[in-house]
Amino acid sequence: MPAVVIVGAQWGDEGKGKIVDIFTERADMVVRYGGGPNAGHTLVVGDEKIVVRLVPSGVLRKDVTCVLGQGMVIDPKSLVSELDDLEARGVAAEGRLVVSDRAHAILPYHVTIDGLREQGKGAIGTTKRGVGPCYEDKVARRGVTLGAFRDAARLRELVGRALEGWAPMLAALGDRGPTVDEVLEAIEPTRARIVKMLAATQPLVERAIKDQKRVVLEGAQGTLLDVDHGTYPFVTSSTPTAGGACVGAGVGPSRIDEVIGLVKAYTTRVGGGPFPTELHDAVGDRIRKVGAEFGSVTGRPRRTGWLDLPALRYAVSVNGLDGLALTKLDVLTGLDEVKVCVAYDTPSGRTGDFPIDELDRATPVLESFRGWNEELGKARSMAELPAAARDYLRFIESEAGCPMVLASIGPRRDETIVLRDPFAG
Ligand code: IMP
Repeated sequence: MPAVVIVGAQWGDEGKGKIVDIFTERADMVVRYGGGPNAGHTLVVGDEKIVVRLVPSGVLRKDVTCVLGQGMVIDPKSLVSELDDLEARGVAAEGRLVVSDRAHAILPYHVTIDGLREQGKGAIGTTKRGVGPCYEDKVARRGVTLGAFRDAARLRELVGRALEGWAPMLAALGDRGPTVDEVLEAIEPTRARIVKMLAATQPLVERAIKDQKRVVLEGAQGTLLDVDHGTYPFVTSSTPTAGGACVGAGVGPSRIDEVIGLVKAYTTRVGGGPFPTELHDAVGDRIRKVGAEFGSVTGRPRRTGWLDLPALRYAVSVNGLDGLALTKLDVLTGLDEVKVCVAYDTPSGRTGDFPIDELDRATPVLESFRGWNEELGKARSMAELPAAARDYLRFIESEAGCPMVLASIGPRRDETIVLRDPFAG
């Protein structure tokens, strides 16, 4: 049975919530491998909308074990309140949710520092959830793992060390920073509950794969936000790409059977940084409105633009994608024409590659497709789509050099054309 990685192929917000939920219908385990509460995966069940930030999107499937891997950074308060919200809506997750004791804790000073830095001139438009500073502590080897929550004395020592490390920066930012006692007081109300969920998750994931269980490794953010492969420095601090699944869940590359990339039928981005196919006109506004393109964590309006095929080819390459799941095709319904970037003109000539290091000097070459007006939501096969929408899909597939496994044509579970389910058979 396969272990399947699901990864965002753009700048995040590709609609991972819905697609992971669909693919986990037959799964036994779903593992979030990176990021933290900067993610916001929207799940729609019946007429209800649920946004999960830390908890994997497979949580709605009652028999699925949910794992928060050691590649994640976890704000204990957010996790507990997310679990309470789910519980209030009838989704009992706590008994089948396992949290890595090696994941790092986002503590109040991380959030403070993230917020203060975003007020300065180095701002990159983060989600201000403390994600960057927490990963900085991890790499600086002064982070607080959730495992330390088990031992009050150890926790005090680690928090003290981290605060010492941040003291010069906090002073430079004009903040006195919290005391160790204040941080410990903030942790205390959630500590016992967090400790109950902790485990060494790597062996659990490895065991599940060895036992032929169906395992989904769920990415957050997207390829172009990857700290190594994204549009640096306008990136997140983790590794959303498929390689990050191996590190963040503790799975060797040879154990991964398939990598599916999620791509929206157009492009969006939140926060700063280059976005060559961005639209600053009525079409961009329309896509934002119809697609409800507002950040699910921060509520910020997302920047919108045409699909970028060189960027998609880059994502296929960086992640080794085996299949594409295309989302939000229905949002383009009603446009007279749909454009797509097929290449770039750069100072060194025309290229079909994504010129990641010279995006500021690159001009997208756009190709135009005729639009369609028919409602898509009821289609259940490619043949039932309007010819223009089908042409658009087939063009994407052939230009990306990667087969389509799914097309999402509305927010509901059933508004989906599944061409190949990686867990079928
Ligand atoms: P951070 O991850 O909060 O540090 O933010 C760094 C950059 O990544 C900013 O541009 C954010 O808007 C972006 N970002 C982080 N998480 C997500 C996400 O889940 N979806 C889309 N953009 C994100």
